[in-house]
Amino acid sequence: MLLEIRDLNTYYGASHVLQGISLNVARGELVALLGRNGMGKSTTLKTVMGLVKSQSGSVSFDGREITGHAPYKVARAGIGYVPEERRIFPELSVLDNLVLGIKGGKIADPADSKAWTIERIFRHFPRLKERIDQKGKLLSGGEQQMLAIGRSLMGNPTLLLVDEPTEGLAPLLVNEVRNILFEINRAGVSILLVEHNLKVALSLAHRVYLMGKAYIGFDGTVEELKDNQKARERYLEV
Ligand SMILES: Nc1ncnc2c1ncn2[C@@H]1O[C@H](COP(=O)(O)OP(=O)(O)O)[C@@H](O)[C@H]1O
Ligand SMILES: [Mg+2]
Repeated sequence: MLLEIRDLNTYYGASHVLQGISLNVARGELVALLGRNGMGKSTTLKTVMGLVKSQSGSVSFDGREITGHAPYKVARAGIGYVPEERRIFPELSVLDNLVLGIKGGKIADPADSKAWTIERIFRHFPRLKERIDQKGKLLSGGEQQMLAIGRSLMGNPTLLLVDEPTEGLAPLLVNEVRNILFEINRAGVSILLVEHNLKVALSLAHRVYLMGKAYIGFDGTVEELKDNQKARERYLEV
């Protein structure tokens, strides 16, 4: 397994928001983590990134224990993170926002044809190339989301954690972001995707985990979820 989360317990003060979460992502997989608001999906991603400390449990990545490591170390190990709030630098250009993504990630081997470079990212995001000199704050929501994803790729991650990438986007852009995630995964980047748009999630995912409050209530393939009406009713908006 590329990512192995074992029995995580995480608290915010006295509130026990992850109660024994276990989850895996295999190399090359796109895994969706779904559920209603407030269940603990974002906290799960933040705990993997080391942004939130778990009280117990373990996270291993590529065979190495990374539990409790600082975020920059987790990034350097090869995990990219696209947070829900995107965190684009508003006063910096598209290009400078991308260049800043190199910091903290892995340094790509220039001889590696699979390395993510500015040129390669622009091939996947032609919209960003058209706006190369534009300030981050002048981009639309969809373009900012693309920039956040592009920036995370500059760190050459083996695994991307993506939190609600289509939230608040117009339908056309939802589809564009969906296609970009598909292409990135096809290019060999494993993805753990938190997504409220069920259609998008199920069109991309190889496997699915559904969260109830602080726990995983279902895991299985997309087919298994489609056949399991009870799980869908219990854990998803229907
Ligand atoms: N920084 C925080 N401090 C205290 N409680 C928080 C914090 N962030 C999230 N929570 C709470 O933790 C629970 C899980 O939140 P979150 O992981 O954001 O859920 P999801 O991403 O599934 O919507 C919720 O009850 C939420 O209110
Ligand atoms: Mg969330």
